[in-house]
Amino acid sequence: MLDTLEEIKRNLQKEIKGISTLKGAEQLKIKYLGRNGGINDLMKLIPTLPVEKRAAFGQKINALKVEITDTIEGFIKKLSSEAIPKIKSEIFDITLPGKRPSIGKRHPLTQTIDDIKEVFARLGFDVAYGPEVELEHYNFEALNIPPDHPSRTDFDTFYIRDDVLLRSQTSTVQIRIMEKQKPPIRIIAPGRVYRPDTVDARHSFMFHQVEGLLVDEGVSFADLKGVLNQFIKTYFGQNIQVRFRPSFFPFTEPSAEIDISCSLCGGKGCNVCSYSGWVEILGAGMVDPNVFKAVHYDIEKYTGFAFGMGVERITMLKYGICDIRLFYENDIRFLSQF
Ligand code: PHE
Repeated sequence: MLDTLEEIKRNLQKEIKGISTLKGAEQLKIKYLGRNGGINDLMKLIPTLPVEKRAAFGQKINALKVEITDTIEGFIKKLSSEAIPKIKSEIFDITLPGKRPSIGKRHPLTQTIDDIKEVFARLGFDVAYGPEVELEHYNFEALNIPPDHPSRTDFDTFYIRDDVLLRSQTSTVQIRIMEKQKPPIRIIAPGRVYRPDTVDARHSFMFHQVEGLLVDEGVSFADLKGVLNQFIKTYFGQNIQVRFRPSFFPFTEPSAEIDISCSLCGGKGCNVCSYSGWVEILGAGMVDPNVFKAVHYDIEKYTGFAFGMGVERITMLKYGICDIRLFYENDIRFLSQF
């Protein structure tokens, strides 16, 4: 009898070697441990034994049962852990669409600045930059803005010290470039500017401008009109109407403000254009001789024009955005539309 038990163990070891699937292992389990399995057959023999031997034999069978159970369960575990990576690779479906990584976008203001740079690059303009923390000299004096000019007060300019401020216009870059370079000059200068305005749908204490400056011999107002017309038509489209209105800036003479037909209502009149059909987008003019004097340019030899535009304003007009604050809130629902 005991020999039979040993034989069962040996058979099991042999059979296991020939099995490589989970299904095979389950069948093996039934064969040895199932209701009609080998172990149960042995149990059935117990009543046929002499009474005094029954208990000892029963214990042996139980020990064998535990051993066989351990062996088979261990084998099943081993097989299934080997099978998992196989199953995983089998269910990988390469025809599924997959998850797209969300791709970042340029901020709409950056896009506008890039678009402006591109149009002016085609007209031969380089890009220049200047500091946002600026000396009073560059923001006012050199630009022919007199000491008693209202824009110099605390109401219109953020002062850091008496002679140091946050620039309120990118016109500062005109002076910085002309101090360093001789004509011909052809630059645009994008950047942030600061004014102590109360924030509302149209005002912000910080916004962006793009300045332009062209200086050479024989530059005329006709050149200014040509360049700005070209820019506006390229940026807003050929059908946009442009009008030049006489205006005043201390650093240009003569000066003009440039309006375009309201791109939101098509010139019919809406609350963005105050029902006039026109919106102002640029300040411009011929560089004032006093500005050339401040940078020691020969005013007999050189003339030039300058212009400045608000980037937020242009972006709002182009895309029909009605509140400037949207640009600074970093709300993805807004930003992802551009
Ligand atoms: N600096 C002016 C402003 O901020 C714009 C301007 C620039 C006007 C250059 C004329 C020439 O309003």
